Amino acid sequence: MALLEVNDLTVSFYTQEGVVTAVDDLSYTIERGEKFGVVGESGAGKSVTALSLLRLIESPGEIESGEILLDGEDLLQMSDSEVRQIRGNRIAMIFQDAQTALNPVYTIGEQIAEAIRHHLDYDEEDARERTIELLDQVGIPDAENRYSDYPHEFSGGMQQRAVIAMALSCDPDVLIADEPTTALDVTTEAKILDLLEDLTDEFDTAVQLITHDLGVVAELCDRVMVMYAGQAVEKAPVEELYYDPKHPYTVGLMSSIPRVGDDSDRLRTIPGSMPDLIDTPTGCSFHPRCPYAEEACTRTEPSMIDVGNGPDAREQSARCLEYTNDLQHGLGFDVSIDEDLSERVPGDLHE
Ligand SMILES: Nc1ncnc2c1ncn2[C@@H]1O[C@H](COP(=O)(O)OP(=O)(O)OP(=O)(O)O)[C@@H](O)[C@H]1O
Ligand SMILES: [Mg+2]
Repeated sequence: MALLEVNDLTVSFYTQEGVVTAVDDLSYTIERGEKFGVVGESGAGKSVTALSLLRLIESPGEIESGEILLDGEDLLQMSDSEVRQIRGNRIAMIFQDAQTALNPVYTIGEQIAEAIRHHLDYDEEDARERTIELLDQVGIPDAENRYSDYPHEFSGGMQQRAVIAMALSCDPDVLIADEPTTALDVTTEAKILDLLEDLTDEFDTAVQLITHDLGVVAELCDRVMVMYAGQAVEKAPVEELYYDPKHPYTVGLMSSIPRVGDDSDRLRTIPGSMPDLIDTPTGCSFHPRCPYAEEACTRTEPSMIDVGNGPDAREQSARCLEYTNDLQHGLGFDVSIDEDLSERVPGDLHE
């Protein structure tokens, strides 16, 4: 059984302009200890998916249907108090902006110790000791003294380290990290990502890492889900995604990574923008931007199809008519990138 299994999740926002289907029939699984990346343009539904896992969708939003199984138990069927037991304890979350997670009126140490006391049955002294140990583990120098610092006395990078310490303090099964480093400079970002990787390896924590940086995914993740307009359009092990992307949108994302040695500083982007989620196009929601789109794509909505090839290929699937059985030879396009993609693949994927 997978640690986390999301089945047919649909989440809508009832706005004055109409119903925004932010997450549309989304399914994926995360195994114990697995690092799972979620990528896609702004507005694709990444954060709404994450908030759904913690049942933090607020009005006018509503989780319409689906299942969110944690060790086989459906979070959507639990009472509020049962969900509170899971939040922070079995599923923890790190947000983009560390400041939102830290309360300015309590010291860093008090906040982490409080989380530990709340979730684990520690007394005050043990919680304090554990907190200092954690602050030390996330690389805060002189942790014993910094325990009594207020958030504003920490730099942005140190605040994010403290938030990571807090998130990991209860040894969660799943850590959701929603753009955890975008507020930081590049050097700090690299250090924080290394830290996340080391600690989650050490604690055997599964990670759902949300980002629009494919380089970050390559560095950290085992598997990736590409989202577009609330749907998964491709799921693949990270190597397959980089070397053999199947969905035209993934191919587009890959081509927008600047090449090594390409000093033009020009990031190719996919022309057009994501559709209005109140009124998504008929057929495939990517068809208006797809260079391969044919007439059938404007009418028929593709479903997620297994596309992995070869006996050793691990699970890879894509939502594109090209791969649906009855149309397999109908469209006849070859989704491939002309240039040598490996030139663009970030260092970690090179052997
Ligand atoms: N409270 C809300 N009310 C109305 N619409 C919302 C609300 N929250 C999210 N949405 C809509 O849901 C869609 C998905 O939003 P989401 O925040 O999940 O995108 P995202 O993939 O996380 O984007 P980003 O990369 O910018 O963080 C967007 O169209 C957004 O406008
Ligand atoms: Mg987001």
